[in-house]
Amino acid sequence: MANILERYRQLHPRSEALYREARELFPDGVTHDTRYVMPFPIYCTHAEGARKWDVDGLEYIDYVMGHGALLLGHTHPDVVAAVNKQMARGTHLGASHELELQWAQWVKKLIPSAEKVRFTSSGTEAAMIAVRLARAYTGRSKVIKFQDHFHGWNDYLLAGSDRGTGGIPRTVWNTMIVLPPNNLAGVEKALTEDKDVAAVILEPTGAHMGLTPVYPSFLHSLRDVTLRHNVLLIFDEVVTGFRISPGGAQARYGVTPDLTALAKILGGGLPGGAVAGRADIMDMIAHKEDPQWDNTRRISHPGTFNANPLSAAAGCKALELVATGAPTAQAERAAQSLRDGLNRLLHSLEIPGCARGVASVFHLSLGRPCRCDEPSVCQQSPQDIKAGMPPGLAGHMKRSLLNSGVDLMASSGITGLVSAVHGEKEIQQTLRAFEEALTSLRHEGLV
Ligand SMILES: Cc1ncc(COP(=O)(O)O)c(C=O)c1O
Repeated sequence: MANILERYRQLHPRSEALYREARELFPDGVTHDTRYVMPFPIYCTHAEGARKWDVDGLEYIDYVMGHGALLLGHTHPDVVAAVNKQMARGTHLGASHELELQWAQWVKKLIPSAEKVRFTSSGTEAAMIAVRLARAYTGRSKVIKFQDHFHGWNDYLLAGSDRGTGGIPRTVWNTMIVLPPNNLAGVEKALTEDKDVAAVILEPTGAHMGLTPVYPSFLHSLRDVTLRHNVLLIFDEVVTGFRISPGGAQARYGVTPDLTALAKILGGGLPGGAVAGRADIMDMIAHKEDPQWDNTRRISHPGTFNANPLSAAAGCKALELVATGAPTAQAERAAQSLRDGLNRLLHSLEIPGCARGVASVFHLSLGRPCRCDEPSVCQQSPQDIKAGMPPGLAGHMKRSLLNSGVDLMASSGITGLVSAVHGEKEIQQTLRAFEEALTSLRHEGLV
């Protein structure tokens, strides 16, 4: 019987050929770090609903789901129709337009902290301007972030990262304070000792889409401590926004930050991001026709594709559907069924580990038993979680699952994003694929 790697090569000859060509065109042969999959990534042709197909004609149940952008699944007919309609009317009007107002109204309606909104082209930009707003508003320069929390690839917010940090002037990181999550005393101490802190930013369900969980009680405590120290609280809801609940983590856990970074589902599957928050802070972007203010205090914010009409059309339709509450609930139900099924499977195969995650996100940890019965509160330490899925094992798992017709993310652990159109049929098929994949891993002595 062919091993996992041999089978991967046998199944994907066309992808392997394309990758040879791609290596001459792109560094690493890819256009996104997490698509750097050894020995080569799959090349996809099209997608629909919960599935996608590759150049070798193979079908996959997809849990990458546009890196989290596709809560409604691929090619949702209403979103496609809205984009087609706008496409015929112009992809860039080089002017303000009505759809951007509607898009912002949906954000305001759904996200509790959103008094005013500014659109960006990506989540990286949204987090970057959120931090800039906090600094400009408070007149202070430092920002507290938490270990391993990801906020895009800008220089400041990569502080504390142990991967790919070349080219960042270390002086930039002098303005960043990186703390362990879930440790209120540490935050309190930092804020007491340093009066130059503008804001605290975090992924509200924890690092890497909740892989290393943040406890909801910590969010409440952070809100209290930041208010007491007059420091701003920023939620990076690029992943959790419109997914964890229609109003994001802030609505699910009842904690309202001062600023929120949004992207992914916001754009209905097209590029788009936004920062939203308190009107007085957001107005740091506003002109006052006062040279002193306009030139030295306000934040300039151009961006060719800010609020572009295609993303606005897709985003309005997606958020209109999200506002019904149905997509978030359906995706969460499907994810819970998958997590339960995976835990039963691990138990029956006698493989120590667990599947867990909040709402429609699932993570798989192997290697040691987990005590994570309550999905939002996992008592494993970040070290245990990292040890439970070392990068080598995650890579084998990804290839093995691709061989069995399932795609998911395997950069920091094994993570999947479930959509509203993953039905019971897809969940059962996924569980069979996991059984095959885990059995192959066992044959190779990897689990
Ligand atoms: C929590 C979080 N913030 C920010 C980003 C960056 O968003 P983008 O990839 O749109 O730049 C990501 C990307 O995955 C993310 O997960």
